[in-house]
Amino acid sequence: MSSNGEPQILRHSVAERMAHWVVAIVFIFLFLSGLALFHPIFFWISALFGGGPFMRWLHPLVGVLLGVVFYWYAAGLARDNRWLPADAAWKRNMWAYMRQEYHPSDTHKYNAGQKLMYWSMVPIIGVLLLSGLALWQPWFAPHLSPTVRRIAGLLHAISAFVMFVGIGVHVYAAYWTRGSITAMVRGTVSQRWARFHHPAWYQEITGKRP
Ligand code: HEM
Repeated sequence: MSSNGEPQILRHSVAERMAHWVVAIVFIFLFLSGLALFHPIFFWISALFGGGPFMRWLHPLVGVLLGVVFYWYAAGLARDNRWLPADAAWKRNMWAYMRQEYHPSDTHKYNAGQKLMYWSMVPIIGVLLLSGLALWQPWFAPHLSPTVRRIAGLLHAISAFVMFVGIGVHVYAAYWTRGSITAMVRGTVSQRWARFHHPAWYQEITGKRP
């Protein structure tokens, strides 16, 4: 029960919320420190993270942390992100959904937009991690040819940009769906929220028809 007496449903466990917010904070650090390493125009950002040499040492270590925590979190969510026949209809009507002209009743725990974000992050973070390892001085980079390092640099920059755009859309959608950020903080949603945004999940959890 919430403070206003509304029945609540658990949406994100404590471990999932901790993993999600570690990934989010780590992403902000990696993006800012990555910009500082990418071009001298952004080098001033390194002052926020203890200066150039320390930030350069920390960036790849935090990158590995992102990989470990993200894949742990993503593995637990894979089942709820399976692509279902209902998702194709959501995808076709995505713009109508945003204009609030389309509201399907067969949405499970995550809608097709969330699933697309999930399934794009799974390979993108892999590319970021592998290309980052290839650029890591003095560990892996000295053992690779300049061509491989150049390709890794390009892939690292492209995948970081794609991730920035994807996460930008994700944060905007989270802000736009009232109650969802609170759910990622507290773990629970009201039955009304679940019934409205994820009716098929609501039915699965409560056994009641939406
Ligand atoms: C930086 C600010 C971020 C905010 C405010 C935010 C917000 C949220 C919220 C509110 C949810 C719950 C949605 C729901 O219950 O339906 C969520 C889910 C999720 N977030 Fe974030 N997020 C952020 C960053 C990230 C980052 C950097 C990642 C890394 C890829 C990420 C990956 C996910 C995933 C995988 C889910 C579950 C959705 C699914 O599996 O389809 N988030 N986020």
